Amino acid sequence: MKRAAMSSSTPFFELRHGDCLDGMARLKPESVDAIVTSPPYNVGIGYSTFDDTARRDDFLGWLTCWAEAVCRVLKPDGSLFLNIGATPANPLLPHQIALRFSERLVLQNTFHWIKSITLETKEGEQISAGHFKPINSPRFVTDCHEYIFHFTKTGKVPVDRLAVGVPYADKSNITRWKKTAGRDQRCRGNNWFIPYPTIHFRDKQRPHPATFPVELVAMCLKLHRVDSQSVVLDPFVGIGHAAIAAAQCGAGKFIGFDLDRDYLGEAKRKLEEYGGSKLRILKIPAKRSARPGSR
Ligand SMILES: C[S@@+](CC[C@H](N)C(=O)[O-])C[C@H]1O[C@@H](n2cnc3c(N)ncnc32)[C@H](O)[C@@H]1O
Repeated sequence: MKRAAMSSSTPFFELRHGDCLDGMARLKPESVDAIVTSPPYNVGIGYSTFDDTARRDDFLGWLTCWAEAVCRVLKPDGSLFLNIGATPANPLLPHQIALRFSERLVLQNTFHWIKSITLETKEGEQISAGHFKPINSPRFVTDCHEYIFHFTKTGKVPVDRLAVGVPYADKSNITRWKKTAGRDQRCRGNNWFIPYPTIHFRDKQRPHPATFPVELVAMCLKLHRVDSQSVVLDPFVGIGHAAIAAAQCGAGKFIGFDLDRDYLGEAKRKLEEYGGSKLRILKIPAKRSARPGSR
């Protein structure tokens, strides 16, 4: 694992049990380099602790609170990568959420996390890749993607496009274009095909109803040039996929919050395999009670 701690006394992984608004209130202003997260979308997902069926207005009001909290903790040149999916019945939800955030931050890039795709080769063969989860509907087609909205404070934060680049299909471009400097790597664009890793025992291998893949987070962190001085935060850390990506990308510190102790327990178990030995799950002292989904 590639990882360098900020200092020998700073623990790399900090997992905290409780409400992320309380957790973020305890962080120093402008102390976080990159936030990669997937909040609850309020679409009725069956989480163990959190009730994902709040009134739409309550949910959007709560989003405003946590957008403010994000603005407070994010460094001036920090990045928020916000993963949001839709449902056929809620097709506008990702855009409503992005609009709330755009009241405080600048939408710098929009990525499409493609989970499943069918392509036709030059020879006319059709290739399907990824995990296709069919729905049974006379009205809707199967939704095979989610959004990653990249917000920054200025809209001008440099990104390392080639860190997640791809080789040129036409190799003559390497010598034809000076900007390549002889390197066979071009910008990947904003369609990211990232299938879920195949698992055989969901309860044991991915005991959470709504995760994102480690690779998705790693791509965001590489784009933001996360290094050994960087602090990475996931306020809705679930079973810890963002933490694993932060470790893989050589971040200096990772902070994660979740309301559910069992999910954090699973994160702890996974992270111990990534060098987070003697990891403790700390409790966030609770101040708030009015968040949607509190049971
Ligand atoms: C979409 S899931 C994130 C899963 C995570 N990305 C992963 O790959 O494991 C959202 C998570 O937010 C947690 N959650 C909901 N409300 C919260 C709050 N106010 N503070 C902290 N965590 C919360 C839920 O328990 C759930 O695990």
